[in-house]
Formats: sequence, C-alpha cells, structure tokens
Amino acid sequence: MSIPANSPFLTRNDAAYAQWREAKLQEYPTRIEELCVEIADAQQLSADEHAQIVRLCRKTNMALYRAARPLDKAAVKALGEQFGLCRLDHNLCADPDGIAALQVSEGGRSQDYIPYSDRPINWHTDGYYNKPEEQVQAIILHCVRNAGEGGENAYLDHEMAYLLLREKNPAWVEALMQPEVMTIPANQENGVEIRPTQSGPVFSITASGALHMRYTARARNILWKPDPLVQEALDFLTRLFQSNSAYIFRYRLNPNEGVICNNVLHNRSGFANGADNAHQRLLYRARYFDRIKHTWNEL
Ligand SMILES: [Fe+2]
Repeated sequence: MSIPANSPFLTRNDAAYAQWREAKLQEYPTRIEELCVEIADAQQLSADEHAQIVRLCRKTNMALYRAARPLDKAAVKALGEQFGLCRLDHNLCADPDGIAALQVSEGGRSQDYIPYSDRPINWHTDGYYNKPEEQVQAIILHCVRNAGEGGENAYLDHEMAYLLLREKNPAWVEALMQPEVMTIPANQENGVEIRPTQSGPVFSITASGALHMRYTARARNILWKPDPLVQEALDFLTRLFQSNSAYIFRYRLNPNEGVICNNVLHNRSGFANGADNAHQRLLYRARYFDRIKHTWNEL
C-alpha cells in the first residue's frame, strides 16, 4: 500500500489537514480519567470494553485499562492479540517470550540500560533505533507492582505533537520528515557492534496511512541533521514537554493497570523502591510491529 495522495500528514494537503485537525481537536480528552477503561477479563474482553479501547485509541492513540485481576505475561499477550497486536519486537533485553520485565536490574546485559534502573527516562517513542522496516507501532505497558515512590509516566499523543508543530510552522514538520534527519550511532558492546547505525525521519507515514513518530530527547549519542529548521522544531518540542500543556497526560500506574497505545511519546520519572517486596516496581512491556487494529482508516 502506498501513501494516499490526499494524506492529511503531507504538508501540501492543506484541506485534508484542516479536516483532520478539526476532527482531532473536537472533544479531545484532557483528563487521564477520560482515557480509562475498566476491564473484567483481559484475555477475553467484552465487546463493549474492546470498543471503548478502540474508540480511545482512535482519538488519542492510547488508552489506560484497569484490570479486575492481576495479569501474567500470557494475559498481556492475549490482550494485545485482541487488537491485532501479534508481531512482538524481540529486542535485546526482552525475555524469550518477547515481553520485557522492566525492573531494577543488578546484573546481566540489561543493567547498562536506563529502563532497567530507577533513573528518569527522557521523552521518546520506543524503538527509535530500530530498522525502518521494524519500527515499533504499538506498545503495552502493564504494571505488576509500583515503586514505593515515583515512577510516574507522562504521555503525549504523537499526532498532537505533529499538530502543534504544524500549527506553528509547517516547515518544521517537513524538516522532521526528512529521511535522514535523525541518526543513532551503532551500539557497541565490548568493541562488538550489536546494532548498526540507524538513520531515519522523525515523522513518517505508514503503509496504511497512519502517522508514525521516531524520537528521543536524549542528547547523547544522537546525531541530528544540521539544519536550522530541525533545530527550531526540536526546541519547540522541548518547550512543549516542559510546559503544562493540557495534552500531556501524567499518571503513575497502579498494580493491574496498564497502557495500550500506538507508540505515543512518553517519559518516566525516577523512582525509589520500597523496603518491602510489594513495592519493587515491575512493569511488563510488549512492543509490536503492528498498530492497534481499527485505529486508522481500517474499520
Ligand atoms: Fe519507552
């Protein structure tokens, strides 16, 4: 499938964009509670629970679910499958089942990676270092246990980030759509290359016409194309993340809660585990090469 000529995400299509923008902004939620769906059985959602999650993801690219019972990894997997999320990204630190258990790690390969520490994580979308054909389109983040303190996430719909950028200056959006705007140098472990250099755009349009975003706010180990428009766009995003924009949702997941999303922008605050076992933060994270079904011109 090729990109539709009338895609609202192509800056030359002002009329299609105006229409998309109006629909996007209409009744856009501004409170995290509006994104929450109570679910009885994650492995077998009712038609109504499923429809609510799809409706939210169509609007904001994310939904928060509150499950009645604890979920194991198999249940997280089954939850995703009900939304067409089947192709898991078996990234470096994921367990053999393809789902990562994010917790403070004291050994092994994962100790070098910030997600497996209690440190804050800056704004990003997942898998920004993946190959173009293996971009992470959707994620499920499920909370098994939260920390004693901290570990809050903030989320920003990447379509809203696109809209706010384009609103200010369409040339910024174009600058971020350049195919080699962002380069991640190769990942080396003990002198051995375990991931090659990856270049790609920030914003791209998927085969089904959806908007995809590849981004990290981290300053180290990222090479941005030297282009004043790129710099201005990045500065705008930085100011947006630091603002109290109504479009940024902040939430600390409780046990049995999770987020299912089309890889929206997110960050994590630092945290401190408690003294007892119940407050050792543990989140399951599944990354998918599929997008949540029925969320973009797919009904
Ligand atoms: Fe992430």
